[in-house]
Amino acid sequence: MPVREMKIDDLPQVLQIQKALAFQDWNERQFIAEITADYALCVVYAEAAQFNTNEDPRLRGDDILGYAVFHLMGPDSELLSIAANAPHQRAGIGTALLNAGLAHLDFAKGDKMFLEVREGNTKARRFYEKHGFEPYAERKKYYADGENAILYQKSK
Ligand SMILES: CC(C)(COP(=O)(O)OP(=O)(O)OC[C@H]1O[C@@H](n2cnc3c(N)ncnc32)[C@H](O)[C@@H]1OP(=O)(O)O)[C@@H](O)C(=O)NCCC(=O)NCCS
Repeated sequence: MPVREMKIDDLPQVLQIQKALAFQDWNERQFIAEITADYALCVVYAEAAQFNTNEDPRLRGDDILGYAVFHLMGPDSELLSIAANAPHQRAGIGTALLNAGLAHLDFAKGDKMFLEVREGNTKARRFYEKHGFEPYAERKKYYADGENAILYQKSK
C-alpha cells in the first residue's frame, strides 16, 4: 500500500513538491508540528526508490509522489493540504491520499470533512467535487492576494 504516515525524513521531498506546485507555503516547522500533533494525520504516497538497491530496506528510502494533512476531529474533521507531484497527477494519487483521511470518518454518525480552496483552483475543485464535497460558503478576499476562498464539506 503506497500510502503511509509521513515521517520527518520525508520532509525534504514534501517541501519540494509544495514548492514546485506553489499552492501553499508551509515551512518545515509547520509540517513537524502537524506530524507530532495527536489530532493530525499526515500521509504520503511513497514508492520504493527505483535505483537504490541497498539491501537494508530501512536505508533504501522512498520516492514521495504526494502528501496530505488532515485534522481528524470526529464530526468536524478538516483537510488542510493535499498534493500530488505534477508529473504524477491524474493517476489516482490524490484519491488514495484523500481516502486515507476519509477512512477515519463515520458519516453515518454525522461526521463531516471540511476544506477551503482558492476559487480559481479549478483542478482541485473538480477533484473535491468528484469525491462528493459540496460548496457551502464563500469567504471574500480570504487569501493575501485578494482571491476568494470556497468552503466545501463532505457529509456522506
Ligand atoms: C488536487 C490534486 C491533489 C488531485 O490529485 P490527483 O492525483 O491529480 O487526482 P486523481 O488522479 O486522484 O483524480 C481523481 C479525480 O479528480 C478529478 N480531477 C483531478 N485532476 C483534475 C483536473 N486536472 N481536471 C479536472 N478534473 C480533475 C477527476 O474527476 C479525477 O478522476 P478522473 O481522472 O477519473 O477523471 C492535484 O491536482 C494537485 O496536487 N494539485 C495542486 C495542489 C493543490 O491545488 N491542492 C489542493 C489545494 S490544498
